[in-house]
Amino acid sequence: MSTGDAQVEPKKFVVLGATGSVGSELSRRLIRAGHEVFLGGRDQESLQELAEELSASTHIVEALEPESIEGCLKRANDELGGLDGVVNCIGSVLLKPAHLTSDAEWSQTLAVNLTSAFTTVRSGAKVMGRSGGSIVLISSAAARIGIANHEAIAAAKAGVIGLTQSAAATYANRGIRVNAVAPGLIKSKMTRSLWQTDPAEATSIEMHAMGRLGNPGDVASMIQWLLQAENDWITGQVLGIDGGLATLVPRTRPKKSRPV
Ligand SMILES: NC(=O)c1ccc[n+]([C@@H]2O[C@H](COP(=O)([O-])OP(=O)(O)OC[C@H]3O[C@@H](n4cnc5c(N)ncnc54)[C@H](OP(=O)(O)O)[C@@H]3O)[C@@H](O)[C@H]2O)c1
Repeated sequence: MSTGDAQVEPKKFVVLGATGSVGSELSRRLIRAGHEVFLGGRDQESLQELAEELSASTHIVEALEPESIEGCLKRANDELGGLDGVVNCIGSVLLKPAHLTSDAEWSQTLAVNLTSAFTTVRSGAKVMGRSGGSIVLISSAAARIGIANHEAIAAAKAGVIGLTQSAAATYANRGIRVNAVAPGLIKSKMTRSLWQTDPAEATSIEMHAMGRLGNPGDVASMIQWLLQAENDWITGQVLGIDGGLATLVPRTRPKKSRPV
């Protein structure tokens, strides 16, 4: 798979959650490839820092206030003079069994991961109208296999899969493609506790047949590819970027024998 940066025609994209690990990596890659990128993020200071680095415009987006997503896309559309694609990189993780999950945690998990994706689709479809474009959402490997203590986040990310497929069918006749990526465990801000110590990282790696955790570039690379106009026959897909987590049973690795 090649992103073919050198030959790509410049396009106009919005990245929501732009200050996150995947969002910032994607924004940098799109700018390097010659595209215009409008950055949506919740933290004024880190958003400003990224905007200065990339010479890009910004809009404050708070997922718990869905109208901020609509406001961001409308402003980007006005400032850039149209949009070719929108990516929602906003998300959170909640590792708790259902019986310990509060109503507030459940609502927040749905709002940040599923409602933000829905609002991205609704607003993206409005601003792109009939001119076509690409919407990319982020689901999770946890939505496709049962992993303990993921009930709320798995439900939210499974919702993203249903949303992706239905929206892809709805908007195909307007030339708007809707796809999602479903990452395995990515070394990012939100998952630090799962890989920051050697034993935690080793346990997490064991679940991935490819023998390593993902990095933000693994996910950003596929999103960039999905955005490209030359891939315009791909819609309604949920692509696992997961080192095999959702589909493969890893070989058991021989444990080092302990000295007696
Ligand atoms: N990392 C993984 O292992 C993994 C696995 C499966 C799926 N995913 C999904 O991948 C996507 C990118 O996550 P990441 O790994 O890059 O983690 P990350 O670095 O923590 O990025 C998450 C982003 O979401 C933003 N965000 C969180 N709550 C928000 C809210 N209420 N309003 C607005 N923005 C909010 C964060 O803003 P700040 O920058 O201000 O914190 C950050 O930009 C997410 O959808 C995540 O659920 C990640």
